Amino acid sequence: MKKNNDENTNILSIKNDVLQAIHGANSASELNKIYNAYLGKNGVLRNLLRSIGDIPAEKRPGYAKEIHNVIAAIENSLRDKEGVFLENNIQTTDKGLDITMPGIKIKNGHLHPLTLIERRIEHIFSSLGFGVVEGPEVEDEWHNFDALNIPKNHPARDMWDTFWLRSKQKISNSKKQIPSPRLLLRTHTSPVQIRYMEMHEPPFRIIVPGKVYRFEATDASHELQFNQVEGLMVGKDISVANFKYIIGVFFERFFGTKINVRLRASYFPFTEPSFEVDINCLFCSGKGCSTCGHSGWLEMGGAGMVHSEVFNAVKYDLKLVQGFAFGFGLERFAMMKYRIPDIRLFNSGDIRLSQQF
Ligand code: DAH
Repeated sequence: MKKNNDENTNILSIKNDVLQAIHGANSASELNKIYNAYLGKNGVLRNLLRSIGDIPAEKRPGYAKEIHNVIAAIENSLRDKEGVFLENNIQTTDKGLDITMPGIKIKNGHLHPLTLIERRIEHIFSSLGFGVVEGPEVEDEWHNFDALNIPKNHPARDMWDTFWLRSKQKISNSKKQIPSPRLLLRTHTSPVQIRYMEMHEPPFRIIVPGKVYRFEATDASHELQFNQVEGLMVGKDISVANFKYIIGVFFERFFGTKINVRLRASYFPFTEPSFEVDINCLFCSGKGCSTCGHSGWLEMGGAGMVHSEVFNAVKYDLKLVQGFAFGFGLERFAMMKYRIPDIRLFNSGDIRLSQQF
């Protein structure tokens, strides 16, 4: 009994010593030392626990419990005192953590100007009832040329010189037996007209945004890879008047100002009649400036009524359908809207470009 009392007194005096030491500690490192001396691997209380076998068996449980209580009391006290140091640190040093300061703002990325333009165009045309459709960038010769009324050796093929691929593989997803398996990087989004009409019956209206490729020398206004948006609306009595109205609404919404549209006679193998689509120059309001070559007009793209040979290629009945198609360059829209002077900036990878939008 006496021995037991001695042991308990011993533990209690250890507890008092430690709590006092914690109370008097002036720094976190002092607390650390106290922890190691009493609760560390060879600390006083750990050794007491290890020596528990030296006392009579019946007393062991009570004694062990006592030691564990003391350990818990010391741990609590250490934690409280650490909290005090942390709080003082926050309040008294400017290098410390001030949880009331606003957080560091994480920089958001920027959408590329072409992505912004594409989304804007899609949004406007969607609101006019157009579906947004995509097609493959690796295209076969038939869809890119022949079906669009550009047969082999036709001089118009020079305008759409491209990168030919060696692969003999045919592109799937076409219900047609493709006569020519030669593959290329598509030179325009127009082949998606064919792909869509092969799979759908009129009436419909779609736009087709996407990358296109040309084999040509680059300069401030030419790139070998750029983006187009194609449009196609086919039905029983779709006319040039419908085109002129829709494209006028589109331009006004896109540029946010009143726009005059002019259709100029032109030539494309896949449309008849064909037009160049001009809008009044936004930089000089049509008065004439260096951007519009002092004509007052800016050329935006090509358009026309879908050629009968194109409808023949997809086996539409010419007596039942007619429609318009158009094709615009996305870079041109972006360059005009954001006044970007060189087309090569778009693919330069220089984030100073996208950070501005
Ligand atoms: N595909 C033509 C080009 O890349 C652009 C174009 C012109 C598309 C007239 C059309 C169109 O749909 O009707 O130059």
